[in-house]
Amino acid sequence: MTKTGTLSTGNSILTENNKIFAQDVIKGLSTSPKQIPSVYFYDEKGSALFETICELPEYYPTRTETQILRHHGRDIVQHFPSKLQIIELGSGSSVKTRILLESFLNEHGSARYVPIDVSASILNQSARELENRYNELTVQPVTARYEQGVAQSILHDGTHNLLLWLGSSIGNFTRTEAVEFLNTIRGMSGANASFLIGIDLRKERTLLEKAYNDAQGVTAAFNLNLLERMNRELLADFDLSAFRHLSKYDEEKGRVEMHLVSQKKQTVHFDVPGFTVHFEEGESIHTENSYKYNINEIEDMAYQTGLILKQQWLDPQKWFSLNLFIPK
Ligand code: AVI
Repeated sequence: MTKTGTLSTGNSILTENNKIFAQDVIKGLSTSPKQIPSVYFYDEKGSALFETICELPEYYPTRTETQILRHHGRDIVQHFPSKLQIIELGSGSSVKTRILLESFLNEHGSARYVPIDVSASILNQSARELENRYNELTVQPVTARYEQGVAQSILHDGTHNLLLWLGSSIGNFTRTEAVEFLNTIRGMSGANASFLIGIDLRKERTLLEKAYNDAQGVTAAFNLNLLERMNRELLADFDLSAFRHLSKYDEEKGRVEMHLVSQKKQTVHFDVPGFTVHFEEGESIHTENSYKYNINEIEDMAYQTGLILKQQWLDPQKWFSLNLFIPK
């Protein structure tokens, strides 16, 4: 297998980020079953497609979580003191966050908001917009990975640190990874902290499978963009028409899986010295897991991470949950 330091293309040396991408792709496509981490969906095009997914009629999580925030915003903010900073993991376009920030501002008059994201451009743009819109809001954006961002943002001066993680992004971690990650973040945050986390719930198969295979084909385009990204950034020669988007719910594991299924026996070449990958007809690349939880599983996860589920808010259909955890 090619080593990181030696990855080069016909014309150019790969950038540092692309080297890590190439390494992960080579590793994932060399294992059986083939897989690629879902973090690689989010290049510029993938992020835009995800924004479109959030507006789709079939994709209930975004509008359901928004509904919960709208209905319960005033109740939610009662749980926190006025000396507060809100640290958000993966802030994105922050539409949902605005609902919550407005509730805090109405209740306490002012607030400090620390959005953490790896994408500096989106982060700084939305930070400027928020500061222009709300005079009493202090925004301190942090461009970093979550752990690093949290470590550098936590205040230990009596301020309450509220860690906000919306959108059920926790569902893209395995259940074990979710526990490990929450343990790490809890360990960094100290006793004067709480965690408000959006978690998607287990539900009927047809609803779940439609949410990840919409009629307009946006989720299919989002999934297939991963092949496009490899063609663009790693100079691979994937034929996009020779792969099909598949989403399926594994009820036992409680997760929706996304796959890209090869429609024929084929070989794909990467312009990385010596790397080719073979596909049988029907063989797939597993590109995403989206774990769904029931209430017991949420409580159990909290227990394993030294947290207590203090309060939970649901929509009337019980499709999505917003969970307030505090240290034990
Ligand atoms: C970002 N994440 C929570 C989404 C989800 O539902 O797992 C990603 C997604 N994949 C397909 N549609 C949406």
